[in-house]
Amino acid sequence: MSDEIDNIAELEHQAKDELKKTKSADELEAWRVRYLGRKSKIVNILRSLAGYPIEQRKTIGEYANKAKIGLTAQMSYQKGHIDSSAHQILERAKIDVTLPGEPCQLGRLHPTTRTIKEICDIFVSMGFQIVEGPEVEWEYYNFEALNMPAEHPARDGFATLWVDYQTETGARPMLMRTHTSPVQIRTMEKIKPPVRVVAPGRVYRYEATDATHEWMFSQVEGFAVDRNITMADLKGTLFEFARRLFGQDRKCRFRCDYFPFVEPGVEIAIDCFMCGGKGCRLCGNTGWIEILGAGMIHPEVLRGCGIDPEEYSGFAFGMGVERIPILRYGIDDIRLFYANDLRFLKQF
Ligand code: PHE
Repeated sequence: MSDEIDNIAELEHQAKDELKKTKSADELEAWRVRYLGRKSKIVNILRSLAGYPIEQRKTIGEYANKAKIGLTAQMSYQKGHIDSSAHQILERAKIDVTLPGEPCQLGRLHPTTRTIKEICDIFVSMGFQIVEGPEVEWEYYNFEALNMPAEHPARDGFATLWVDYQTETGARPMLMRTHTSPVQIRTMEKIKPPVRVVAPGRVYRYEATDATHEWMFSQVEGFAVDRNITMADLKGTLFEFARRLFGQDRKCRFRCDYFPFVEPGVEIAIDCFMCGGKGCRLCGNTGWIEILGAGMIHPEVLRGCGIDPEEYSGFAFGMGVERIPILRYGIDDIRLFYANDLRFLKQF
């Protein structure tokens, strides 16, 4: 009899040991089948009690039953343990959808990019197409084809960054384009009139920087060539542009100016949108703000692109891009645009 009791004690001991090692509901269930299931040893002992002599039946039965009850109790304790650690894992992984979201940093377009888009959108709506040209340019396109041969005094107005291009026969003069006007030439060589184009892009000047000068800035060039294009088309187009960009009741002022690639050349100003023309700090008390240079494309320039100036004529204009947000937002230093200071850029 004591053999039976020893067996049960041994079994109980082993069962407890294994129970402690169970880590999941599945492992626990396998343990239950093994030690408390219908085919388990303890249940077998209890089932076979009838085969023992009557006096042993009671003792073994009691002992086996106690072991069974004890193991059952410990199993439910272990179950609680497993459940709560599984629960903890879930708890940690849980997402509370009612919590306020974490603020995420949104990027934004640079004020120059936004202004270029705004300008181009206006001209696109008037039937212009957008074209781009290279920033590293041949001397020919930046100067010669625009009526500024070598030694032309107007070149002095464009402090140029030269980049010599080495060929087998020597260096050919290249430069960082000083304006977007070379895109006029490149376009007219390829597209025959009628043509209406705006060309945004970066330009470079070899200059010391200060609050009003940067060695790199942006321009938007525009031009139209067709039969019978006159100064009236230039005025109508730019007047409409100025009103859309700066407000419906803007006035435009056209005054004579000189650019070798246009004849006649004009400088266009709008009445100051801050003081309405009375004179203030923004317009330097003149009541007017200069926004662009323009004119009728010089016949020599057309001819150089294979366009007959007897048959065709065109107007062209070019404007500085940064100047527009500078005026609008009262920015006092152009260097802020390309200093990559997010505190500045985030304001737009
Ligand atoms: N390219 C000139 C500049 O940079 C502007 C301009 C363009 C003037 C087209 C007339 C016609 O100053």
